[in-house]
Amino acid sequence: MESRKIKWGIIGLGNIANQFATDLLLVEDAELVAVASRNYANANEFAAKYNCPKAYDSYEALFADPEVDIVYIATPHNSHAELSIKALQNEKHVLCEKPIALSYADAVRMVEASRKHNKFFMEAFWTRFIPSVQDVLSKVENGEIGAVNYIKADFAFIGNETEGSRLFDKKSGGGALFDIGVYPLFLSYIMLGIPKEIIAKSIFHKNEIDLQTSMILNYENAQAVLHASIVSESDMKAVIGGTNGRVELNAPWFMADGYSIVKDEKESVFSFPNLGKGYAHEAIECHKCIRNNQIESELWSHQNSLDLSKIVEEIKNQIGLKF
Ligand SMILES: NC(=O)c1ccc[n+]([C@@H]2O[C@H](COP(=O)([O-])OP(=O)(O)OC[C@H]3O[C@@H](n4cnc5c(N)ncnc54)[C@H](OP(=O)(O)O)[C@@H]3O)[C@@H](O)[C@H]2O)c1
Repeated sequence: MESRKIKWGIIGLGNIANQFATDLLLVEDAELVAVASRNYANANEFAAKYNCPKAYDSYEALFADPEVDIVYIATPHNSHAELSIKALQNEKHVLCEKPIALSYADAVRMVEASRKHNKFFMEAFWTRFIPSVQDVLSKVENGEIGAVNYIKADFAFIGNETEGSRLFDKKSGGGALFDIGVYPLFLSYIMLGIPKEIIAKSIFHKNEIDLQTSMILNYENAQAVLHASIVSESDMKAVIGGTNGRVELNAPWFMADGYSIVKDEKESVFSFPNLGKGYAHEAIECHKCIRNNQIESELWSHQNSLDLSKIVEEIKNQIGLKF
């Protein structure tokens, strides 16, 4: 372990910022040195809660803080591109919440900024780094269930439609596809890559955001059947089917604490608890890359984010979602 800690700043102190800060306390060589909110009282309260020495009332002030090594961007989707680029221009490394951006063109600009300023940039696709998914991926790659030919995955919950809630707000990039549809798409992408064909259908809200989106991704020898909803629930188990058996990721699969492999009707159970809720693993990956002077992760690379963004953009166009 290197003696110097990696110093974090967090901007946008809402729901996920709290969850991430809680998990960051579990990462030995991480130190939260500054937080920023649009509201000073909120910043102070958050800083006190996580024992953070500095609280700012503007994101720009945090970007200008020379002590901060890496900024975690935890604001709504529609601000990810501009804020990530600003942080990179200020010579900060960046971990930006998913979805990377509301358009593929913006995602490209973010990656270009990382390259131009030679600073680490990663979309916070935390599920890529949790131990269960890492282990499943390596077993599948080693042929444990034969050739993968089927994925079933969804992410569905009944969202609380309160006044101005981010999830139902078109301006913030609300709706099922961009908030949670990216998860099942991610699973299909890491298992099978870029599909040959996509078919998607949605049910829309009066605010013109998608409430439910169902997607079929067609590959040469495989299909993924995926769903996202902010108005209904599901068991949220994911199945990866192959010519020799199947993997079932424990529910909710995107933060699975283990999985089963079923072959010839025999089930083998594997337990892989997360560190904290699961966000610590992506932070550890950021540390590894920063210490190695890498501007991207090999496990969730710039190209991976761009590929996923392109898939999402095609679905956005098919269903007629416009931000
Ligand atoms: N990885 C995950 O598991 C996970 C889970 C949930 C959400 N997310 C992602 O994280 C991002 C934030 O989601 P969240 O659920 O944390 O949202 P949230 O609770 O609404 O918090 C977002 C924060 O962003 C700041 N903000 C800046 N501009 C804003 C604006 N125009 N409207 C509202 N807030 C604004 C606010 O913080 P200040 O007032 O302090 O500036 C707000 O508290 C989203 O992109 C979402 O996709 C990821």
